Amino acid sequence: MTLTTTAVLRPHAEQAYADELAALAAIDDRPRPPGWKLSPWAVTQYILGTTLDDGTEITPKYVGSRRLVEVAVATLATDRALLLIGVPGTAKTWLSEHLAAAISGDSTLLVQGTAGTVEEAIRYGWNYARLIAEGPSEQALVPSPVMTAMAEGRLARVEELTRIPSDVQDALITILSEKTLPVPELGIEVQAKRGFNIIATANDRDRGVNELSSALRRRFNTLVLPVPQTADDEVDIVTRRVAQLGRNLDLPEVPASLTEIRRVVTVFRELRNGVTEDGHTKVKTPSGTLSTAEAISIITNGMALAAHFGDGVLRPADVVPGILGAVIQDPATDGVVWHEYLETVIRDRDDWHDFYTACREATH
Ligand SMILES: Nc1ncnc2c1ncn2[C@@H]1O[C@H](COP(=O)(O)OP(=O)(O)OP(=O)(O)O)[C@@H](O)[C@H]1O
Ligand SMILES: [Mg+2]
Repeated sequence: MTLTTTAVLRPHAEQAYADELAALAAIDDRPRPPGWKLSPWAVTQYILGTTLDDGTEITPKYVGSRRLVEVAVATLATDRALLLIGVPGTAKTWLSEHLAAAISGDSTLLVQGTAGTVEEAIRYGWNYARLIAEGPSEQALVPSPVMTAMAEGRLARVEELTRIPSDVQDALITILSEKTLPVPELGIEVQAKRGFNIIATANDRDRGVNELSSALRRRFNTLVLPVPQTADDEVDIVTRRVAQLGRNLDLPEVPASLTEIRRVVTVFRELRNGVTEDGHTKVKTPSGTLSTAEAISIITNGMALAAHFGDGVLRPADVVPGILGAVIQDPATDGVVWHEYLETVIRDRDDWHDFYTACREATH
């Protein structure tokens, strides 16, 4: 079933950025690895953004180190798979979706890893009605996204790999080393076409949940996605994503106030790092992650508040509820941390009076 892209809430990357991908394909005269829609160079341009000679804007998707993206793209052109790890909200999922869109033109071959993921989700399952009626046949076989990716020479994505039980993870070992998926019931095998590979993501915080076996780890190149290095980088990421999301959601036009974005990012970074941006004051760290992703959603929610209930301008009162929600995860301990930060750091900042007042009003 295909839906028109204008009606869906969240189009896949290859739909949302179809124009950019087509423009890149048109000018891309560099060698493409077998099965790839674009050359590694063009994939990197798609991810990092550029302006083409004919004036076409390629918007940056991932904001960060060029080398990191090059390593990711180069890995996918080899016979090793790619594992993106990092703390929550560092764009692991986001980057893997865009890599799959640019390389295979399809980001939808996805296995969502959970504690309940079974081997069938990685290998194949059966349509039991057909299986019982007709016996085992290719028509009764239900391929997993990984099997489809192998048959079609595309990228498959495995999200949250370390949440998958270890014995199920191990189903990937043969697939990655032999590049084949046998179906003993039918006496056949699906051999991976060129262009097949796997991008997996795993969350740092889940480390130890289901450790990757060393046999599996050896089949992956691991890349750590860092948290944004500077406040300016993080403000840049939030500003771009908020603008994109606002367009997608058709929010009434609210100018994304740079002041409020900067404040949210500053508060998050200071609490995350345990020290103020000027390095002078130590602060306690609350239990939440306070990721860039959360900053993005706080600003987006704030814009919805401002548009529908405010005066169309993003004000401190529109972002403070979101900040409090993210910071005070555990009312007892985080509440104290927040109060101390509010009274020792925020209160004394010259141009933060309106923000301080909004925080006080929201907590009392
Ligand atoms: N460096 C970055 N460049 C561009 N966008 C970023 C960056 N860091 C975070 N984001 C944005 O943050 C949001 C969340 O990213 P994503 O869901 O991919 O995080 P994740 O690393 O998969 O987190 P989790 O571990 O919770 O699954 C996305 O909208 C993404 O655009
Ligand atoms: Mg993710």
